[in-house]
Amino acid sequence: MKDVYILGIESSCDETSASIIRNGSDEIATVILSQIDIHTNFGGVVPEIASRHHIKNITMVIEDCLNKANMTINEIDAIAVTAGPGLIGSLLVGVEAAKTLAFIHNKPLIPVHHIAGHIYANNLVKTMVYPLIALVVSGGHTELVYMESEYSFKKLGSTLDDAVGECYDKVARVIGVGYPGGPVIDKMAQLGKHTYNLPMPLDDNSYNFSFSGLKSAVINLVHNEEQRGNTVNKEDLATSFQEVVVDIITKKTLKALKDYNVKNLILAGGVAANNGLRNKLSSSCIESDINCSFPPMKYCTDNAAMIATAGYFLYQRGDFANLDLNARSNIELQ
Ligand code: KG4
Ligand code: ZN
Repeated sequence: MKDVYILGIESSCDETSASIIRNGSDEIATVILSQIDIHTNFGGVVPEIASRHHIKNITMVIEDCLNKANMTINEIDAIAVTAGPGLIGSLLVGVEAAKTLAFIHNKPLIPVHHIAGHIYANNLVKTMVYPLIALVVSGGHTELVYMESEYSFKKLGSTLDDAVGECYDKVARVIGVGYPGGPVIDKMAQLGKHTYNLPMPLDDNSYNFSFSGLKSAVINLVHNEEQRGNTVNKEDLATSFQEVVVDIITKKTLKALKDYNVKNLILAGGVAANNGLRNKLSSSCIESDINCSFPPMKYCTDNAAMIATAGYFLYQRGDFANLDLNARSNIELQ
């Protein structure tokens, strides 16, 4: 069978990325231009600034990717692009670039859901086996998704308020350790002790999550200690916070696996890089005889390799868009 090369484009938040993937699993080349250094000054992503940088960089990133792969656009079978969800101004840059390439070079255009991309990052490591449960944890999402077969998504539950990565970022901001907060809090959590009592968020029978109460509890704790003239031990607070987060996510994920009688778990999204979560989930999965797969760090955070990979499976189904494709900041996974 002829090899299929998909060029993926991702620009939903603060990374401008392009990637070429062969047959939905082999990475030929990926370029990621991160804007983290720019947004750090503001303690979070500033949408308008993000869009402007995407505009400045998108052409160069795509060209770099083709050069790195030593390929021309003529050798590409289709263009896959993140069409949502994400920051609308940022998404539009990627979508317009993809549409332009598809139009000029007469290639099929494939819109990809950002979360489908995060999930399919796993296929770059190991062929995904169905049925499976995907735990999607990122700066914008906290979702448990059941996949009975290829490209079928049933959302079991999601966050009712803040996403888990967002909660990490806000906690990091309140204790003054910078942006993005997840990796820093994760590192600090390895060094501290569980000393602060924080509430277990939404500890019920559903597959939903809620992190805003936990975030407020951390903010109140820090302010109360400051008012009393006490210093907060940041590492101990990071450990206490991370343990609560990891416990509730693990508990609900194991419940979904049990209820749906599924033996395959995959992790996706930026927070899948979290060491505490990886350790707890892998040991729980060993105990419960569940195959658990984590993408390597480089595929956990936003990248176009995951978009090209998901795009391959849509290519096989002939799921193409017209040139009137529009980006959408909010769009259901289906
Ligand atoms: O998937 P991603 O790159 O962007 C979104 O689609 O949201 O995820 C970024 C999020 C940020 O909130 C960041 O703080 C978090 O992932 N993150 C982590 C870790 N590495 C990144 N959170 C916890 N522990 C980590 N090691
Ligand atoms: Zn993402």
